[in-house]
Amino acid sequence: MIVATSFVRDHDFIQALYIVAFVCFILGLRGLAGPNTAVRGNWIAAVGMAIAFVATLLIPGVVEDGGDWALIFGGIALGTLIGVPAARMVKMTAMPQMVALFNGVGGGAVALIAWVEYRRRFPGHGDELWDQKAQIPSLFAAIIGSISFWGSNIAFGKLQEILPGRPIRLPMQHIINAVLLLVAVASAVILASGTHSQALFILGILVTAALLGNLVVLPIGGADMPVVISLLNAFTGLSAAATGVALDNTALIVAGMLVGASGSILTSQMAVAMNRSVPAIVAGGFGGGGTATAAGDAEERPVQSTSADDVAIQLSYADSVVIVPGYGMAVAQAQHAVRELTDELEKRGVEVNFAIHPVAGRMPGHMNVLLAEADVPYDKLREMDDINPDFPTTDVSLVIGANDVTNPAAREQKDSPIYGMPILDVDKSGQVIVLKRSMNTGFAGIDNPLFYNENTALLFGDAKKSIQGVLAQVKELG
Ligand code: TAP
Repeated sequence: MIVATSFVRDHDFIQALYIVAFVCFILGLRGLAGPNTAVRGNWIAAVGMAIAFVATLLIPGVVEDGGDWALIFGGIALGTLIGVPAARMVKMTAMPQMVALFNGVGGGAVALIAWVEYRRRFPGHGDELWDQKAQIPSLFAAIIGSISFWGSNIAFGKLQEILPGRPIRLPMQHIINAVLLLVAVASAVILASGTHSQALFILGILVTAALLGNLVVLPIGGADMPVVISLLNAFTGLSAAATGVALDNTALIVAGMLVGASGSILTSQMAVAMNRSVPAIVAGGFGGGGTATAAGDAEERPVQSTSADDVAIQLSYADSVVIVPGYGMAVAQAQHAVRELTDELEKRGVEVNFAIHPVAGRMPGHMNVLLAEADVPYDKLREMDDINPDFPTTDVSLVIGANDVTNPAAREQKDSPIYGMPILDVDKSGQVIVLKRSMNTGFAGIDNPLFYNENTALLFGDAKKSIQGVLAQVKELG
């Protein structure tokens, strides 16, 4: 029994468990790259996390010192009680704010660990030297983790509409931010230099970084929040990796770096797909709905509205149809009806494809996830660059609750806030049918010239009801 206990607590055995955990994390991330493998990928990563957790508990000293199993299992129970129902009940459209909240918790945990480490190393807050190898990364983690926690909470508040989505600025905002950053870094340098070790400095770091997290995210508009969340996610990863260095824990270093790297790549890809630079997003201003141009023209210019019967005829007698899903399809939860319509049209010999814009919806892969949930075959989902050359030979483009990602102003109007953003060239197809409820703008808050084109007709109403109406008519055509 004693031999077995000492074996499982052996350093090499624990490191071997960690390596198994990293392999699971990497395989999990690989699985998340496609909807067919995403669920399996998530499970593999979760198993990896469980292995890393058990391995950490086996490290000699982790439990014996505190000996507080009740606290550890109390924490697990509390996390499970909150996390599992929240994840099960969250609506797909509310996923970005859920990610913000969970990411913030990670950053907060890292900041708290830095504080605990400080207290552990300086029991009497005296003048003993804190090992610099552990101290510097720990202070870095305190700053970044705290920024990430508070910034993520603001991002959550904006997306959940607890806070206004519009940019909120203070006078001399950039100067205030610079002073806060300076105070946080100066406090860290004083602690690291070993001249003073008063609790005041570590608290100073946590408080100034907290203020910075709030003040950096408040001026950013709601539309840019998913990019901000991805950026804060990368921050949390980096701060967790730094904590791993401080605690000499390989699992934290590898997991933190994986999160940091994937979050950074995702942030950059989202910014490119929206034709925005990350510094411009962090500087704030766009995306709060206040930058609209020409939105006021919307009511004055005539549009053609159409009916479910007409749409059914156009779709049924087309050779090729491209469906362009957007945020409205997610809101209406129309994906299952869309799948049924696709099946019905294919029975009639119509070729149906789906055009997927990289930032359609409100989170990366939003449309892919919804369509996979409705069992739309993955090979029907065509990326923007792949499908754009096909629009001129497409008979009908059916735009379901998409707006900004089809806006030709991005191609043609140099003064448009979205000028330069790559779009789906639906206006080049023979006929365009747009399903939406009103003439409201999309998330960028700008009018869409597509709606006034001669070859565009709008079917007004909730997307799910509209699709169900069209489907019923297609079936009647026999
Ligand atoms: P949006 O431009 O936001 O347009 C959505 C459209 O759906 C609106 O025109 C709305 O018009 C309509 N709609 C809403 N509810 C509906 C319902 N129940 N039935 C029918 N229509 C409904 O969406 P998009 O084209 O997908 O573009 C996404 C936007 O989000 C882009 O600006 C993008 O930059 C931004 N964004 C995306 C991401 C990611 S990662 N996906 C991240 C950050 C920002 P009505 O109100 O008139 O119905």
